[in-house]
Amino acid sequence: MRHLMSPLDMTVEELDKLMTLADDIRLHPDKYAHVCDGRILATCFYEPSTRTRLSFESAMMHLGGKVLGFASADSSSAAKGESVSDTIRMISCYADICAMRHPKEGAPMVAASKSRIPVINAGDGGHQHPTQTLTDLLTIRSLKGRLGDMTIGLCGDLKFGRTVHSLINALIRYPNVKFVFISPQELRIPDYIREDVLKKNNIEFKEVVRLEEVMPELDLLYMTRVQRERFFNEEDYVRLKDFYVLDKVKMELAKQDMLVLHPLPRVNEISIEVDEDPRAKYFEQVQFGVYIRMALIITLLELEVA
Ligand code: CP
Repeated sequence: MRHLMSPLDMTVEELDKLMTLADDIRLHPDKYAHVCDGRILATCFYEPSTRTRLSFESAMMHLGGKVLGFASADSSSAAKGESVSDTIRMISCYADICAMRHPKEGAPMVAASKSRIPVINAGDGGHQHPTQTLTDLLTIRSLKGRLGDMTIGLCGDLKFGRTVHSLINALIRYPNVKFVFISPQELRIPDYIREDVLKKNNIEFKEVVRLEEVMPELDLLYMTRVQRERFFNEEDYVRLKDFYVLDKVKMELAKQDMLVLHPLPRVNEISIEVDEDPRAKYFEQVQFGVYIRMALIITLLELEVA
């Protein structure tokens, strides 16, 4: 039995196979409409979500399966003090596979260690968000035709943004990827990413504060929101929340084929005027998230496709 805790749980070859399966699902959805007949997905979300929870549920329904779960800690027995370990023992009796989001780093790993069914980390605190990364990789591969040979700008809250941490870990495995980290001083990438992931693997990167300065060199710009829920005080959040606003004027500085991605939700960091720009791909990215989660469910449940 396999779980998914980090994008690094899969080799580059396994990821390639997963994305190829997602492509086939996109092109031939009817072929997959009953692959999960009789199977149940549990979504255990201790933290708010729109995309991740609903795209998992949509993915399972498109595969013919059923879903159950809870959307907040308050609506589960966690509110009465039940542990994640005990909860997953219950869920193992009710479902065949579980997607879990939790505000505490490592909680889905604890669940996986006690589980009789595959557990997928659907985001743990400021740590990892592997299925967002799978979504991002599939989006980039589909729209750019490659995952290597590009300069990628990551902009915003690089300290608390778990999607950024997972994406960096995943992308360093592809050739000739360079990173430009754009953030205020207070929200720079964590030291462990800089030292243990980037420097240790000789990955080219630079850190800047001004987005305008680097726009012309980017092949892809990954915007992120400032993660209000991870701040210790509201004052710091208010001071930093609108540090970056991507607008039409800044987009004029970018290459004609630069892509703009965002894991969403967006707050103010991308002006709605940018939505009409053909390089803005964040809503297409959401659709790719359903295909890759369908492929992931099939893969972790080791299901045969007729
Ligand atoms: N991208 C993402 O994780 O969105 P949600 O928080 O809505 O799931």
